Amino acid sequence: MSQSPRQARPLFCGNWKLFGSLSESLALATGVRDGVAPGPVDVAVAPGFVALASVVAQLKGGPVAVAAQDCHWETKGAFTGEVAAAQLADAGCRYVIVGHSERRQFFGDTDTTVAKKTRAALAAGLSPIICVGEMLAERDAGQALPRVGTQLDAVINEMNEADLLASVIAYEPVWAIGTGRNATPAQAVEVHAFIRGRLTARIGAAARKVRILYGGSVKPDNIASLMSEEEIDGALVGGASLTVESFVKLVKEGTAACLRS
Ligand code: 13P
Repeated sequence: MSQSPRQARPLFCGNWKLFGSLSESLALATGVRDGVAPGPVDVAVAPGFVALASVVAQLKGGPVAVAAQDCHWETKGAFTGEVAAAQLADAGCRYVIVGHSERRQFFGDTDTTVAKKTRAALAAGLSPIICVGEMLAERDAGQALPRVGTQLDAVINEMNEADLLASVIAYEPVWAIGTGRNATPAQAVEVHAFIRGRLTARIGAAARKVRILYGGSVKPDNIASLMSEEEIDGALVGGASLTVESFVKLVKEGTAACLRS
């Protein structure tokens, strides 16, 4: 277990990716809302764009916030198919995921565009959940930390303390996403501590308050070992967030582990 106490309020965010009709999204959101009590952690869900406003309305006043899965960096203009960060804020979102590895792999997101999306999110009053993470070949070549460092620096270099405190970093090793092969707590802690070091170099001790989430095959049965590490401030969850039972169990197990650590 790491030495320094966790200073950030943990966050568990379900990323629903391209899953769920409107009625399925509303049912899942309602189940999560009813299953998690307000407590010492934050909980969020990230439905697809079409369901966002309805899910926001459904969750209003409850303990579960809403995140979008991506945004565009411009506020308006001729950008067919894109959604502006301000539109997401207007729809009631609190967070927006930027730079997810699936966006980087399949839709051309780069360190440069992720930095622009992050700036747009902050300008719109949203908390960006900034994803970084290495490919398997990079890990095998001993390049995990340099790769994550490059991705992170591209985004945080122009951010001040207030920007960073409003942001969330998510470490998602690409080889652990959807594979059932999660990083061990020790592997995650090594990268989280590295990220924390980079943040500390920019904003000093306040870096301990920036939430650094782990993502990649997080399940109800491995969340406790991850959350017993004080470098890990929560999780970004894909597959295990798609049923009420599994996500609520994950949040409960994760919260209990935070309280013990
Ligand atoms: P899984 O939890 O399905 O591995 O997905 C992780 C992820 O990509 C969350 O953003």
